[in-house]
Amino acid sequence: MQQPIGVIDSGVGGLTVARELMRQLPKEKYIYLGDTRRCPYGPRPKEEVKRYTWEMVHYLLEKNIKMLIVACNTATAYTLTELQNELDIPVIGVIEPGARAAISSSQRKNIGVIGTEGTIQSKAYSKALKEIDSSILVEGLACPPLVPMIENGILHGEEAKAIVKRTLAPLKGKQGLDTLILGCTHYPIIKDLVQAEMGTHIQVISSGEETAREASLILAYNKSLAKWEESPVHEFYSTGDIEKFRSVADQWLDHPVQLLELVNLHPMPSSVK
Ligand code: DGL
Repeated sequence: MQQPIGVIDSGVGGLTVARELMRQLPKEKYIYLGDTRRCPYGPRPKEEVKRYTWEMVHYLLEKNIKMLIVACNTATAYTLTELQNELDIPVIGVIEPGARAAISSSQRKNIGVIGTEGTIQSKAYSKALKEIDSSILVEGLACPPLVPMIENGILHGEEAKAIVKRTLAPLKGKQGLDTLILGCTHYPIIKDLVQAEMGTHIQVISSGEETAREASLILAYNKSLAKWEESPVHEFYSTGDIEKFRSVADQWLDHPVQLLELVNLHPMPSSVK
């Protein structure tokens, strides 16, 4: 089916999921929208995140997407069920795939989750993990400094290391913990720093791979996989600084970004979805 797949995030974080999608489903065309101007979503109230998410969704629906990937944990925690109920295309979030991947990796059933304030407060990971196995122990930690650091392109070096060290201190050395979920799609961009800080005995899990697997299963089941003869040109849109977006995308994606544009999202009256 020659319709694109839509991918949304508050900023550049969803590129970590887009990369996995492009690897596992290379014949698909993707339209990525990052709300970089209003990033971070993590500290914002639930209603605001929902409104912004719907604005992104409306933008992509006009581009005739066949599937929506909510490549943002905060938006997944607050809006996934609503989106799944309201839209007539498949909608996939990143929390359940992340939880599944962590469960298959954890031997001791003792799993840490790092994420935005919104994601951790929502307890969405805890619920998803315990729904699969109620005996799992979950330790959540909100990490507000990490998203602004990544959006500002501070991805390596002493400053990045120091911020990661300070932020992860409450989880470091926790007895019994053997797995850590990167519960924010921005964090895989600094996975090496997190792994170095937590130590090699901790399995660091990102949800991208498992999310892409879920997308691929659903498309195959619905017989709506794409059949482009040549690699399609993906489209990227950002509501904020295009050059910052390009610099992270160029470092992160396997292919150069060919089409990247600045967009304005239309505010919607609160009664309209
Ligand atoms: N990348 C997002 C997430 O997975 C959002 C980060 C933010 O905007 O605070 O939660």
